[in-house]
Amino acid sequence: MKLAEVSLAWATLEDAPAMAAVHAEAFAAAWDAAAFAELMAGPGVFGILAGEAADLGVVLCRLAAGELEVLTIGVSPAARRRGVARALMAAALGAARQAGAGTAFLEVAVDNAEAAALYAGLGFRRVGLRRNYYDRGAAGRADALVMRLDLADA
Ligand SMILES: CC(C)(COP(=O)(O)OP(=O)(O)OC[C@H]1O[C@@H](n2cnc3c(N)ncnc32)[C@H](O)[C@@H]1OP(=O)(O)O)[C@@H](O)C(=O)NCCC(=O)NCCS
Repeated sequence: MKLAEVSLAWATLEDAPAMAAVHAEAFAAAWDAAAFAELMAGPGVFGILAGEAADLGVVLCRLAAGELEVLTIGVSPAARRRGVARALMAAALGAARQAGAGTAFLEVAVDNAEAAALYAGLGFRRVGLRRNYYDRGAAGRADALVMRLDLADA
C-alpha cells in the first residue's frame, strides 16, 4: 500500500465505535467509544479514519484559537510503516490550514521514537517537556515532549 492508496474519510459522531476499535488495536491503554463520542461532540473536534473498512488508523484533533491540537493518532499494527499515519496527519494539517490555523501542536511520550520520527518528518519541532504527563499505571509516569509546527512552513 502506497500513500496515494490510503483511503481516508471524515469521521462522524456515529463512527465513535469504529474509532475506538482501531484505537484499541494501536494502544494498550485505548480510549473507548464513549470517550471518542464525548470528544467528537466538543467544539472544534474532528476525526479522520483510514482504510476502506475504517480499520487501519485514526486521528482525532481539536481546532481552537487558530491552533490544531492532535489529540491522538494510532495505526493498526498490521498496517504500520505504509504511510497511513503520514496520510492521516497530512489530511488533518491540511484541514487546519484551510480553516486558517497557524500552528499545530501535540504531545508525545519521550520514549515513543516512532511517533517522534513521524512528527519530525512532518516538520514538527520540540518546544517543551511535560514531566509525568502520561500515567502508565504500575509502570509509573512518563514525560511528554511538546512538539509544534508552524503551518505556514509545512
Ligand atoms: C506512530 C504510528 C502512528 C505510526 O504509524 P504508521 O502508519 O506506521 O506511520 P507511517 O507509515 O505513516 O510512517 C511515517 C514516518 O514515521 C516514522 N516512523 C513510523 N514508524 C516508525 C518506526 N517503527 N521506526 C522509525 N520510524 C518510524 C518514519 O519516519 C516514517 O517514514 P518512512 O516510513 O518513510 O521512514 C504507529 O506506530 C502507532 O500507531 N503507534 C502506536 C500508537 C502511538 O504511539 N501513537 C502516537 C501517540 S503520540
